[in-house]
Order: sequence, then C-alpha cells, then structure tokens
Amino acid sequence: MSQGENAQALKNGALIAFPTETVYGLGADASNEKAVARIYEVKGRPQDHPLILHIASIDDINYWATEVSEYALVLARSFWPGPMTLIFKRSENAKDFVTGGQDTVGLRVPDHTLALELLQECKKIGVHAIAAPSANRFGHVSPTTAAAVKEEIGAYLSAQDLILDGGPAQVGLESTIIDCTGNAPKILRPGAITQAMIQEATGLKVSENNDSQIRVSGSLEKHYAPNAQILLDVQATAGQGFIALEDVVTPPGAIRLASPANTDEYARTLYSALRHGDTQGLKTIAVIQPSGDGLAIAIRDRLMRASKGR
Ligand code: TXA
Ligand code: MG
Repeated sequence: MSQGENAQALKNGALIAFPTETVYGLGADASNEKAVARIYEVKGRPQDHPLILHIASIDDINYWATEVSEYALVLARSFWPGPMTLIFKRSENAKDFVTGGQDTVGLRVPDHTLALELLQECKKIGVHAIAAPSANRFGHVSPTTAAAVKEEIGAYLSAQDLILDGGPAQVGLESTIIDCTGNAPKILRPGAITQAMIQEATGLKVSENNDSQIRVSGSLEKHYAPNAQILLDVQATAGQGFIALEDVVTPPGAIRLASPANTDEYARTLYSALRHGDTQGLKTIAVIQPSGDGLAIAIRDRLMRASKGR
C-alpha cells in the first residue's frame, strides 16, 4: 500500500507499526481515542503512561504544544528530524488519552524516509500526529526490525492493522527525551542526542534528571528486558550468552551474540542480540558494557534497566 493509503487506514482507526531511525513504533492517529486505547491494549501498557507524538515537521509543534521556549526551537532546528523527543506544555489538542493525563506532551520528528512520508500524507488528511510508543510488549526489548515487531505484538494486532518494513533501525536505541518546560533543558532519558550536543546547541547547562515527578515508563527500574537474565560486566560461563566489543575475547563455551566494533554499532545491534539470545532460549546473557560518554551512557542506561529482570 502507498503511504497515502496507510495514512487513510490510520485515520480510519487502524494501528500501524512503522520504522524510525531509533526503534519501531506502534502508531495510531493521536486524536483518535479508540485507536490510541488499542495501543495500550496491544502493548499491555498502563493507561497513565504518556505516548510520544510523531509529527511531520517543526511547524506542527504549535498544534500540540504551548509556551515553546527559544532553546527548544533551537534544539528542534538542530536535531530534527532525529532521535530526540521534546517535552512541552500541551495545547488543548493533546488530550488526556495521549498524555496519560499529564499537562505536558512529548513530540518528535523521526528521521526515516518511510515514517516522514507517512506523516506528510497524514497531515494532508488532517491527522496531525502519530502517537507511538516502541512496538514491544510493556517492559520488553524494543524492536529494531519489522520481524521483531511481528514477533512481539503480531498476535495482538487485528486484521486492519499493519506492520511496515523499513529495514533495520539505524540508531537502535530509543530517542533522547528532553524536558523543555523549564528554564533549561533536562534530559529524562539518554539517547543518541547527547548532553554535550544539547549544551553545544543551546549554550545552556543541561541537567540529567533522575528524580522525575513525570511518569516516564522508560525510566522505570525494570524495562527494556529480554527473558534471559542480564549480568553486567562479568565473564560468561559455558552455555551463557555473551555481548562485548569485538576486541573482548569470548570466554570458553560462551555463546557470542554480538561483537560490535564501536559504540554506534553496539547501540545498533544490542536489542537484536538480546532477542537472539531469547530465541535460542538462553537463561543468562553476560554483557560487558561500553565505557565512555555520549551514546555509551544511553547503552549503559538501558542495560542497567534490562538487568533488573522481570
Ligand atoms: O525513539 C523513540 O522515542 C521511540 C520511537 C518509536 O519514536 N519511542 C519510544 O516510545 O521509545 P516509548 O513510549 O516506548 O517511550 C517513550 C517515553 C516513555 O517512557 C514515556 O513515558 C515518555 O516517553 N513520555 C512521553 N510523553 C511524555 C511526557 N509528556 N512527559 C514525560 N515523558 C513522556
Ligand atoms: Mg518503550
């Protein structure tokens, strides 16, 4: 189907899983209460957790948000389309059913041709945003391929729903979430747009917030978790899965799941490696974390949560 037809399907209430550069999202028309309710059903996600609204361009900010600060516009201009979600005070168009009842709304322009085409077609027919969480069951590993989406939620979708295939996600970790409601940006979830990049673009001191009153499900302790138990920074024993940078030797008998050459490749391949471990029925996966800052911070953030288990 064309993106025009897909946009029409969304308008008619279908759910569409679609690719972005970070991970695959499970989308619905952000103004359609029934369709949005189905996202929560399919994901098995608590109702009070807000969804990110995906928009076609920076011009759509004002439809959904108010009190947009200058530094937020600088960020949008610098990093959109891209792996960054900005949190604003919501406008009257952002209803409780997408914001989890909060007075803020999360917006993002994804950097993926197919997603952008779909969003542009949506806009032509009056669908102002696609509300989409990652297309996994609540608490699980986010999908980075269409096949992984099918495996995660295929069984919960209905006949009218669709899964679009846009190839493997290029970043592989969820977007950086930045609270833009205060005097300076606050990072709620680390990602590929790093603290240094945000500071450089805005000239402001950027804090990383850990004691948020805001409900960010991705900041729950236990999240992004495969079925296998994740052990951090220990050598794997025989029969256990093992993930580390390529220069780390595989311990005897361990099952190597990924050998990324650098941090970018680590982020891009981590979730599929964890899934691969689950497919093989591994009970335990030992992971040697990347050191350093930038994207390595986001990788360690997700691994820490994944290691809390379920
Ligand atoms: O990269 C991504 O962000 C992916 C792709 C699909 O865009 N989406 C994603 O969505 O990771 P999700 O729902 O799995 O995680 C989004 C996070 C959640 O933890 C949610 O609570 C938070 O964004 N969020 C959304 N709106 C918010 C708001 N108004 N205030 C605080 N957090 C918000
Ligand atoms: Mg998620």
